[in-house]
Amino acid sequence: MNTVTRRSLLAAPAVGLVASTMKGEVGKPALLGGKAVRTGRFPAWPVFDRTEEEALVAVVRSGKWNRTSGANVKRFEETYARVTGAKFCIATSSGTGALQSSLAALGVGPGDEVILPPYTFVATLNVILNMHALPVFVDSELETGLIDARKIEAAITERTVAMIPVHLAGSVADLDAVLPVAKKHNVAVVEDTCQSHLSEWRNRKAGTYGTTGCFSFQASKNLNCGEGGAILTNDEEIYRKCFAAHYNGNMTDFMHGTKFCITEFQAAMLLAQFARLEQQAKTREQNAQYLTSLLREIPGIMPARMHAGCTRNAYHLYMLRYDQQQFAGLPRGKFLKALKAEGIPAASGYGPLNKVKYLKNALHSRGYQRVYSSQQIARLEERNNCPVNDRVCAEFVWLTQNMLLGTRSDMDQIAEAMRKVQKHAGELVKA
Ligand SMILES: Cc1ncc(COP(=O)(O)O)c(C=O)c1O
Repeated sequence: MNTVTRRSLLAAPAVGLVASTMKGEVGKPALLGGKAVRTGRFPAWPVFDRTEEEALVAVVRSGKWNRTSGANVKRFEETYARVTGAKFCIATSSGTGALQSSLAALGVGPGDEVILPPYTFVATLNVILNMHALPVFVDSELETGLIDARKIEAAITERTVAMIPVHLAGSVADLDAVLPVAKKHNVAVVEDTCQSHLSEWRNRKAGTYGTTGCFSFQASKNLNCGEGGAILTNDEEIYRKCFAAHYNGNMTDFMHGTKFCITEFQAAMLLAQFARLEQQAKTREQNAQYLTSLLREIPGIMPARMHAGCTRNAYHLYMLRYDQQQFAGLPRGKFLKALKAEGIPAASGYGPLNKVKYLKNALHSRGYQRVYSSQQIARLEERNNCPVNDRVCAEFVWLTQNMLLGTRSDMDQIAEAMRKVQKHAGELVKA
């Protein structure tokens, strides 16, 4: 299973932008000895300057390094709540910590079921297993790669306590379908907004619709402080519980917790990075829209569709579906190799999370056996079949967000490389 591809892609050192465009070049593929469409790197990530350096030095010199002593965490939380329109924001040490604290605040525990999509980062599953609850997968949509919200209701049982729709790649899951079903069955919605900073559903920020919205500021993310996260909520009681959950109970007598605290260093970085986020988001959006207009013209390349309600896509990833039949049967792996040779790094994305070995191990562990009967686990494993997602995992291709921070001519080159590979797909199949 390939789960860390975008992180390793981003690890490439930056050498700036050297556009080597040769518009109209349809010569031999670089993989077969021809000239690459592009020799320069895409824009480097992370983006920083002296602002970050000075912010960090100021925290060091202040001697106030944790959230209770300094002012940066509080300032970031106020800023993020204001920009997203949420009543409350709690900065955390990671997106995983934000999700885990949300489930703790909802009292999710052994015997409960939690719904999630199978096309997501491992953390969405891990937080459910950490609570010894049952993860119930709802299949993906082929065209969007997101949870098929029309199938959620059928997955709800009297044990369902929460659902975690994931706004993958910056594209928002169909909240028009998710929210009414959740309300009807009194199931909490924890939005996994870890990849969708500034994304919007019907002109309101993603992460503000659910009981909580959970963000990640891990190094690959559009808003990045190395590692970090945040919880948004409009519910004061949930806010108090999430705060307690992420801070060892916060010396309250109503709840225990664990520790997912962010530091002043991370918050200072976030404030500096945040100043660039809106402009970067605009650039990504414009480039992505232009790229979509180019790629739509290439048979066999299908940019991931967005739901009509997604009025802003953060494009943490640019996702597309690859149909190898339209490329003379060229397997996706070889397509990616050919693109790489043309100077266009792309990744195959996630594998099916409902099929990972550690899920089976967890469900058959001593702890789970004490809570659930073997029939219950067998029934769950039968329900967790997601055939559409298997296709999503086999056919999707990802480009990372930093590639969208460049110029229109960068987008031209991405499309040009794909056209070139298609033109020579027959030769590449045989090579
Ligand atoms: C969809 C999704 N959920 C959860 C997480 C977990 O966030 P973190 O790595 O900050 O713990 C990530 C991060 O990669 C993610 O992409």
